[in-house]
Amino acid sequence: MSSRPKVLVDRNEIANTVARLASDIRRDYQGKQPVLIGVLKGSFIFMADLVRQLDLPVELDFATLSSYGSSEETSSRVKLVRGLTKPIRHRHVIVVEDIVDTGLSVSFLLGYLKEKKPASIRLCALMDKPSRRKVPVPIDYLGFTLPDKFVVGYGLDLDERFRYLPDICLVEE
Ligand code: IMP
Ligand code: MG
Repeated sequence: MSSRPKVLVDRNEIANTVARLASDIRRDYQGKQPVLIGVLKGSFIFMADLVRQLDLPVELDFATLSSYGSSEETSSRVKLVRGLTKPIRHRHVIVVEDIVDTGLSVSFLLGYLKEKKPASIRLCALMDKPSRRKVPVPIDYLGFTLPDKFVVGYGLDLDERFRYLPDICLVEE
């Protein structure tokens, strides 16, 4: 049984960072109507906060990925459990991800989306754990760089627990 999660990034710092990312995206997409694609389930809170700060006429879609197993180690087997509901051909796409760890999930998703021939595709990730990377991933809009620690809250889970926490927290083993 893990003990009570400890706050690593509090809600105010998260809000400031989301505002910064939103203003960078707003500047880059003036006059465009990008499609934001959230990666479920982890990005649902980040996506909700980000779109409300964007002030752009975005459209939204979601994709659900699963990596084999539910332990803290991400397996190299990634599959698409639920794909898009609308075509993205000729659209400007922004993938919204909670955290890039090994990079396997999001690089799989970017490959899948590129085959659909969007006009452009960029990645916005709230968090990055570069020390864990197995495949290179270009992050166009990044919130925080984290050490190699497992975090929960603000949408992220440990075996489906703690997604509801308003701060980004460390689970102490
Ligand atoms: P990757 O394929 O290893 O980059 O893993 C990406 C996915 O694993 C993320 O979208 C998260 O859903 C999950 N993940 C990676 N690190 C963490 C973490 O520290 N806490 C919670 N989920 C994580
Ligand atoms: Mg995720």
